[in-house]
Amino acid sequence: MNHKIIVLYESIYNGNTIKLARSMAQTLGCRFIQAQQALTEDLSQYSAIGFGSGIYFGTHHPALFEVVEKLD
Ligand SMILES: Cc1cc2nc3c(=O)[nH]c(=O)nc-3n(C[C@H](O)[C@H](O)[C@H](O)COP(=O)(O)O)c2cc1C
Repeated sequence: MNHKIIVLYESIYNGNTIKLARSMAQTLGCRFIQAQQALTEDLSQYSAIGFGSGIYFGTHHPALFEVVEKLD
């Protein structure tokens, strides 16, 4: 398990993004969790964080931006 990389996603419509997140995480050998869940996690241990969501009304899911705002 690669503990330096994590993929964060939100996938609320067809599950399209979770398929991509799962595939990327499997290839990288890392965790993939919902961005909403990441809000309660310490992300400082990761040197690379991937973000992905569907586009909903012209923008990514708000939870992605909330996570980014919390990062150092
Ligand atoms: C309510 C809603 C709004 C959407 N708004 C946009 C949009 O503004 N631009 C766009 O390119 N796609 C839009 N889409 C399409 C989604 O981004 C696309 O279906 C995406 O693959 C959904 O990802 P998900 O299945 O992981 O949620 C919208 C879909 C829904 C259901």
